[in-house]
Amino acid sequence: LFAGPVDFVKGVVAMDGLPPADRPEVCFAGRSNVGKSSLINALTGRKGIARASNTPGRTQEINYFALGDHSYLVDLPGYGYAQAPVAVVAKWQALLKQYLAGRPTLRRAFALIDARHGVKLVDHEIMTLLDRSAVPFQVVVTKADKIGATTLAATLAQVESELQRHPAAFPELVVTSSEKGRGIATLRAIIDGLGRG
Ligand code: GTP
Ligand code: MG
Repeated sequence: LFAGPVDFVKGVVAMDGLPPADRPEVCFAGRSNVGKSSLINALTGRKGIARASNTPGRTQEINYFALGDHSYLVDLPGYGYAQAPVAVVAKWQALLKQYLAGRPTLRRAFALIDARHGVKLVDHEIMTLLDRSAVPFQVVVTKADKIGATTLAATLAQVESELQRHPAAFPELVVTSSEKGRGIATLRAIIDGLGRG
């Protein structure tokens, strides 16, 4: 799928703005600044198709990208701290939760965890929401280039123990660096497999 065209479809601000649920989709969820948009850029090989920035709260809409006419990649606003007004952030958070709990064609949610920080309370809460909504999710550890092997091993152990508490979680993690390309081919292969199913 990643060899073909990738197009930005639309930014969605309310559930009734979602595109028709006519194909499989995967989404990228995680705390603000964890690297969701950068990961979409790395996966598609299109730097800047998803807007990334060092300002937490960059992505403020649910952004749809089409892989040909096979499937969608969905970039979500971050949860947790964001540099935006409280009322605005509350609105995206509500939309994010409605989306995660209520999108019939959502095949898998990728739950992004920063390699330096591990699973935080807000991540636990989102994973619990995914459990309740029976949305299968898989953890993607991001920014692996920023830390050494020892710290990474500690983060992986913490994530793995967290995942045992979540029935909707896949046991396998994917360790990535959008900067260095680590794990990108693995993640593409996973998404390819879902898109064809
Ligand atoms: P929001 O849209 O605000 O929720 O953030 P996001 O999760 O989409 O994060 P984004 O992709 O905008 O990246 C945040 C910052 O982290 C940017 O400055 C990126 O350049 C940086 N970043 C993302 N991925 C990596 C990575 O793999 N390695 C390194 N070193 N930096 C990264
Ligand atoms: Mg973003």
